[in-house]
Amino acid sequence: MNGPRRLVVLGVCSSVALYKACEVLRGFQKAGCDVQVVMTPNAAKLVSPRLFSALSGRRAAVDLFDEEEASRIGHIRLAREAELLVVAPATANIIAKFAAGLADDFLSTLHLTVTCPLLIAPAMNEAMYLHPQTQENIRRLKSRGADFVEPESGSLACGDEGWGRLASVEAIVQAGLRRIGAERRLAGKTVLVTAGPTREKLDPARFLSNPSSGRMGYALAAEALRRGARTILISGPAGLLPPPGAEIVRIESAQEMRSEVLARFGEVDAVLMAAAVSDFRFSETRREKARKEELPETVRLVRNPDILSELGRLKTRQVLVGFAAETGNVEDGARRKLREKNCDLVAANDVSQSGIGFESEDNELVLVEPEGDATRTGRASKVELSRLVIDRLEVLIGRRG
Ligand SMILES: Cc1cc2nc3c(=O)[nH]c(=O)nc-3n(C[C@H](O)[C@H](O)[C@H](O)COP(=O)(O)O)c2cc1C
Repeated sequence: MNGPRRLVVLGVCSSVALYKACEVLRGFQKAGCDVQVVMTPNAAKLVSPRLFSALSGRRAAVDLFDEEEASRIGHIRLAREAELLVVAPATANIIAKFAAGLADDFLSTLHLTVTCPLLIAPAMNEAMYLHPQTQENIRRLKSRGADFVEPESGSLACGDEGWGRLASVEAIVQAGLRRIGAERRLAGKTVLVTAGPTREKLDPARFLSNPSSGRMGYALAAEALRRGARTILISGPAGLLPPPGAEIVRIESAQEMRSEVLARFGEVDAVLMAAAVSDFRFSETRREKARKEELPETVRLVRNPDILSELGRLKTRQVLVGFAAETGNVEDGARRKLREKNCDLVAANDVSQSGIGFESEDNELVLVEPEGDATRTGRASKVELSRLVIDRLEVLIGRRG
């Protein structure tokens, strides 16, 4: 691995599989990473933190309130420097705490502070692992973007046979390194993402809009940032916190979005048009709020500019990704959009299905490119889907050199 050494934080919980954490630590070190161990207080009852301090060359952190630890390590500083938080072994307890957002020890507090990827390697007996609550906690964390190295089936330390044995050290280290490697593949590239709805005003109190939540676009921007891209997020009113590090440009109308996108188009490597841009605006707008009696019986709408088509005509080296909200045959609609707008990739979803798409945490996409078969993602959170879209984007940007 070239460049400065990467910092991996290794969370260690009180599982019998804890002894394997020493090998996990070694695996990351061999790959050129620095490793900072954070143990739960219960793990420190099973094994002395000194073992991990000696192996890592850094004092293992256990106690959030230890003054010396706070001044030397400090969870906030650690969160800034960490490139990966890997918890191996992860107990049912820590998975539940992460899922619920508890922060009552160093490791769970750190989890809420980090922005780096999270990799969890569970180890527990089969009953705990298969318990519906544990499975729900795992699903919840996955939907927020955490990676899991699934446990294996075999003989467990408690004497039982079954699911729940910590995955192999090699699988854990490889998954972690893959996740770190993925982080920088967009370094040096500029990605522009549009997100959210637009608002087309009739007057200061009345507007035309749509139910876009902005979640898909914000998740895409966060993923592009994680992979090292300079990321510009042009957002309609979405009510979401922009991912830290994104250059955020807030707009209201389609016309504002158009001018902000065009102003930057020459400097970007890719545009992901995830915003739901209103097709129409009012032919006239008023600066002052009109009284109801002043309003005409009917109002006239005019077509808004089609930003994606315009980018399709203007593009030179830029990769253009369109999003399509379809009903009926989703793939046909996506292919039509791909052709008509001169896109390199279209991600389409079926807006007639409930529980996905607009205003929802989840989505289900059909990805089409000019060549090759369509990819159907299956239902997943927008955070998980953003990874699949950015994976494709990386390939498309890579082809342009
Ligand atoms: C010897 C021993 C081994 C344990 N092994 C596991 C385990 O593999 N997985 C697990 O989820 N809990 C295991 N437990 C139970 C946890 O230690 C317990 O739930 C604890 O509260 C978890 O704390 P922590 O997540 O803060 O480390 C074990 C307990 C003991 C005493």
